[in-house]
Amino acid sequence: MRFTHALVRPPGDSFAAGLTTAGLGPPDVALARSQHQRYLHALEACGVAVLRLAPDEKHPDATFVEDTAIITARGALLTRPGAAARRGEVTAIGRALATMFPVMEAIRAPGTLDGGDVCDADGHFFIGLSDRTNEDGARQLAAWLAQRDYGSAIIDIRTMPGLLHLKSGLAHLRHRRLLTVNALAGHPALQGWEILRVPPDEGEAANCLAVNQRVLIPAGFPKTGHALRRLGLEIIELDVSEFRKMDGGLSCLSLRWQINRWNRPLAGATTGGGRE
Ligand code: GLY
Repeated sequence: MRFTHALVRPPGDSFAAGLTTAGLGPPDVALARSQHQRYLHALEACGVAVLRLAPDEKHPDATFVEDTAIITARGALLTRPGAAARRGEVTAIGRALATMFPVMEAIRAPGTLDGGDVCDADGHFFIGLSDRTNEDGARQLAAWLAQRDYGSAIIDIRTMPGLLHLKSGLAHLRHRRLLTVNALAGHPALQGWEILRVPPDEGEAANCLAVNQRVLIPAGFPKTGHALRRLGLEIIELDVSEFRKMDGGLSCLSLRWQINRWNRPLAGATTGGGRE
């Protein structure tokens, strides 16, 4: 899908109080903001118009907007994040998205679902079962997708070390090609897909983000960058060191979609001047 729009929220002053298991020390909030700004510019360089929400000081993890909604070409669904401390983030995102997606359902209790566990591979959705997304939430999403003629497959990552979310270790590049960590590469749900594995010492590089003709990858993973270039992909490397300290990566910093007949243009988005 060619993305036309994205929604982001810069980290607030409270960012360092967010959830983390990384053990990498507290983030430098000023540096996180400048990394976020470069991320926003990279999206614009990919031809995406970016809506920037104000920081949400009440919710330190609110910069990870992707966890709060699932946006498809056929509608949007609000999530119910697995971490109770993050559930309050959803209301404001719902309000922002309601200006474009007139009908929005939501995951219901006892279901939990984080957007980071949902990988849209050109209309086929991989749904991760994780410490954040439970079976009830995954099934609700699968049913919602099926009503819209989308296929899905559930992948249990709960025993896979180092994966907070499915997309911590899986990205769809384009044309049925996936970038994965070793632990996921042989999963039956991925049979029939072309798999590119990240080297074992570059596992975090699997959390990359294909945006239109380019792939945003975290800086510091040269072997993965080289492998993607050899496939003819144009990459943009971005330093996300401060977000990694808070268990975040490139995909979870934005919600992305394509304007079509299911939604309508968003007032206030700034249009990127990048080429496509
Ligand atoms: N800090 C991001 C998360 O735990 O959801």
